[in-house]
Amino acid sequence: MTMIVTGGAGFIGANFIYYMRENHPQERVVCVDKLTYAGNLSTLRPILEDPAASETFRFLRADICDRAAMQALFEEEKPDCVVNFAAESHVDRSIEDPEIFLKTNILGTAVLMDMCRQYGNIRFHQVSTDEVYGDLPLDRPDLFFTEETPIHTSSPYSTSKASADLLVMAYYRTYGLPVTISRCSNNYGPYQFPEKLIPLMIANALENKPLPVYGEGINVRDWLYVGDHCRAIDLVLRGGRIGEVYNIGGHNEMRNIDIVRLICRELGKPESLITYVTDRKGHDQRYAIDPAKIHRELGWLPETRFADGIVRTIRWYLDNRSWWEEIVSGEYREYYRRHYGE
Ligand code: NAD
Ligand code: DAU
Repeated sequence: MTMIVTGGAGFIGANFIYYMRENHPQERVVCVDKLTYAGNLSTLRPILEDPAASETFRFLRADICDRAAMQALFEEEKPDCVVNFAAESHVDRSIEDPEIFLKTNILGTAVLMDMCRQYGNIRFHQVSTDEVYGDLPLDRPDLFFTEETPIHTSSPYSTSKASADLLVMAYYRTYGLPVTISRCSNNYGPYQFPEKLIPLMIANALENKPLPVYGEGINVRDWLYVGDHCRAIDLVLRGGRIGEVYNIGGHNEMRNIDIVRLICRELGKPESLITYVTDRKGHDQRYAIDPAKIHRELGWLPETRFADGIVRTIRWYLDNRSWWEEIVSGEYREYYRRHYGE
């Protein structure tokens, strides 16, 4: 079996590749990644430098929007399935400049599905997000996103992901492409780029820099350890019903400010580092996934408790300073200055 994993040099894609190598070591993984600012080959270094991995792993630097490059790849590899993680994934960047989000997230998905059609109706899995459902009010803790919740997006990022989801379902209905979609809540864990809440706060706290909390810090996210997300995708790939959407989330809702305080406590840093900054435009209030369908149909349940996962994650950033210190340079510094000011 040969699986193309796009975006495998990014946070979740890389964790998925490590998951695959541990749980399905006999399967060949071809990682396709453009290596944008968010993609880091150093994340995959142990596999790339392992001579024994050459049969079962290949890395190709390419843009999923590049039809000719994708055609050459599919011609050569004749894959059995494609898992599409590749995306522009940061909401704040999408607010600053939406265009690349539309290109990669929508057109890139269409190019990949065209290849899947052309090379024999190849199985396609789209890694989507709970953000396609919009948000829930803070004062209605009884409400959750189910797979039937209407799509109702807020940001250019979530709109681009929702557009891709609609295209995926269109390819299923119109061409009979064997597709599935998973919509997950916020992930945390190793190898997450330090522009996202948890790694940003860890990195800044370690350097005694301000911890920029948007608005009042009361927005709620539903946090899931990345390994649990990877296992859920694997289950959907192998046992999910074709043409179906599966929500993934661990019923672990937390306010941003409580996460930031927890990070301060774990690192022994003063809460005086917390700095309230201008709120995100169109800021979604609350995400909360109802994962009943994937539990009922595929037996999935999260295995990592937040209390353990967050400590493990903080420890990982402490033990792997060189990984994030290398990438919080260049383009990132420029973005940070633009977005947060000096
Ligand atoms: P990430 O930004 O860390 O990684 C994205 C990867 O895609 C990078 O390696 C980047 O180089 C690559 N990429 C970007 N444009 C590309 C292109 N045109 N061609 C090829 N490669 C390209 O993102 P992530 O957090 O790992 O998210 C992965 C996927 O999961 C995304 O589709 C995202 O929408 C979805 N998702 C993320 C979360 C989360 O909490 N991070 C939650 C739910 C869903
Ligand atoms: O829900 C799934 C989504 O989770 C994924 O689809 C996205 O790719 C992923 O980036 C994530 O989106 P969020 O916008 O929820 O994640 P982010 O880490 O950017 O922000 C989490 C919360 O923290 C959000 O309410 C905004 C707030 N925040 C974020 C940053 C970067 C701050 O208060 N300060 C910050 O500096």
